[in-house]
Amino acid sequence: MILFKHSEDLRAHLTRAKQQNFSIGYVPTMGALHNGHLSLISQSKKKTDITVCSIFVNRVQFNNLEDFKKYPLSIENDILLLEGSGCDILFIPSEREIYPDAASKNKRYELGYLEDILEGKFRPGHFQGVCLVVEKFLNLIEPGYLFLGQKDYQQCLVIKKLVKLMGKKIKVFICPILREKNGLAMSSRNLRLNEEEKKLAAQLYKSLTYIKNNLQHENFPQLRNKVIKSLEKNGFKVDYLELAKSKNLKIVEKYNKADDLIILIAAFLNDVRLIDNILVKDV
Ligand code: PAJ
Repeated sequence: MILFKHSEDLRAHLTRAKQQNFSIGYVPTMGALHNGHLSLISQSKKKTDITVCSIFVNRVQFNNLEDFKKYPLSIENDILLLEGSGCDILFIPSEREIYPDAASKNKRYELGYLEDILEGKFRPGHFQGVCLVVEKFLNLIEPGYLFLGQKDYQQCLVIKKLVKLMGKKIKVFICPILREKNGLAMSSRNLRLNEEEKKLAAQLYKSLTYIKNNLQHENFPQLRNKVIKSLEKNGFKVDYLELAKSKNLKIVEKYNKADDLIILIAAFLNDVRLIDNILVKDV
């Protein structure tokens, strides 16, 4: 694996690779890597010639400064994991490299309603920050393929929209959510949970599966109330629990067999905010 810290060195290297017709797969991350991240690397390795991963904790996408300050860092371990996964190139830029001045943070993206719902509603400015950094990385790396996790489903749709706005021809793959044995979706933020909390946190996935398995017999608002009550009894604070069309995340209240639907949840367990989702069609 080759490690780059400077954009120009990475650009020069990738230009040579593209001249030899190598296809480039890209996996953006914020580090504190786990098997979920590594599954994206392995998808990219299967489908492309050269896999590039970036690690950059993007301050501007954190709507909450405390969350940014507490974001776990484990760069040495990340490098070892990426070496082991067969990743070809790792890019670890400094903040100055990505945001050299105030002007480099001054851009707005027209994301429409995607920014007003779910994560957009509860984390104002978050997706603008995601677009800001992902646009810079895409312009630098110019990959043919981009690998994202379904775990952050709304982010996938936002980035697909960004790719369209940029007029880029990039094939975006949405990869399945990797989970712990108890069902808890893997996440860098899980490092902030103690053993007891990790057990409790698995209730999010159990709640999603419960709703999915009962949607045909019971109406969604009723199921939602039941589940939220039970989660709150166990110490969760639920930001949202919604049913939506998976193709565009339009929120719906009613189950309709003809629609491809997704159930999405965000909840705090103590001061750790967790998100998860489940597609309804794969019963
Ligand atoms: P990060 O949270 O590090 O996630 C990097 C990628 O890993 C995202 O595409 C995310 O959806 C995927 N991922 C996270 N948990 C996963 C799991 N359990 N199974 C499969 N994939 C999983 O998402 C970001 O970073 C940032 O917002 C970023 C896109 C890098 C922009 O800063």
